Amino acid sequence: MTPVRPAADDPIMNSLARAEAAEHDLAEELDRLVIVKSNIYTSGERDPRVPLPRQPDQGKRYLMGHDPRLPKMPDKPTLFDFFRLRFGPSNHMLQSARLAQKNGLPEKLVLACLVHDIGIAGFIRADHGYWAAQLVEPYVDEEVAWAIRYHQALRFFPDESNGYKYPELYTKLFGPNYVPEPYIREAHRFATSHKWYMSSRLVTINDLYAFDPDVQVELDDFTDVVGRHFRQPEEGLGLDNSPSSHMWRTIMWPTRYL
Ligand SMILES: [Fe+2]
Ligand SMILES: [Fe+2]
Repeated sequence: MTPVRPAADDPIMNSLARAEAAEHDLAEELDRLVIVKSNIYTSGERDPRVPLPRQPDQGKRYLMGHDPRLPKMPDKPTLFDFFRLRFGPSNHMLQSARLAQKNGLPEKLVLACLVHDIGIAGFIRADHGYWAAQLVEPYVDEEVAWAIRYHQALRFFPDESNGYKYPELYTKLFGPNYVPEPYIREAHRFATSHKWYMSSRLVTINDLYAFDPDVQVELDDFTDVVGRHFRQPEEGLGLDNSPSSHMWRTIMWPTRYL
């Protein structure tokens, strides 16, 4: 039977044909590439000490740039490009930032709330407050990075006089007898007597998981806040040779062989 070809002027069939062609190109490109997962992606699921079986690589190239399975980043990526093209769902951060705005927090702390969990959304969960602080440190006020770093520890310690209760969610997730590691307890102790304690505490106060499901918050609602308080590098995030640019590049090209 002769296959039915879409009429040239049929827009739906054309876009279908285009999608099929793109899928075909991607499959061909992937066939020519060896893409290896870094140890940290699989450590735990497998014993990291055991050597990985070698993938067949005859006549193939090892991936050294953009991963064709991911959407392409612009040449000069911005913070929002990372939100849109590399981070996982960011509703929690958007809602936190919105709440911070509603509560009348200074703009730079609204920004802190907007990015406080980018460690989780874009990089590595464990110690996410430290990772997020390090990612943004070259581009924000010192106090913003500090507040993000210490939210990691402060989340585990109630401060009811300032309106922060130990999260019920944590009791559910970690059990009623969970005790944070000594380094987290020490970070909390250190933070409580610091001049920026309340900035970090405010990140935890606005760090809520129970939101009004009817309210839709958009990234674009924060364009001005980010414009005023995040020093977007001209060369693009990751390409600017800052102390954390390699981390942004890793998020952009997570599967590069070297
Ligand atoms: Fe967090
Ligand atoms: Fe959070």
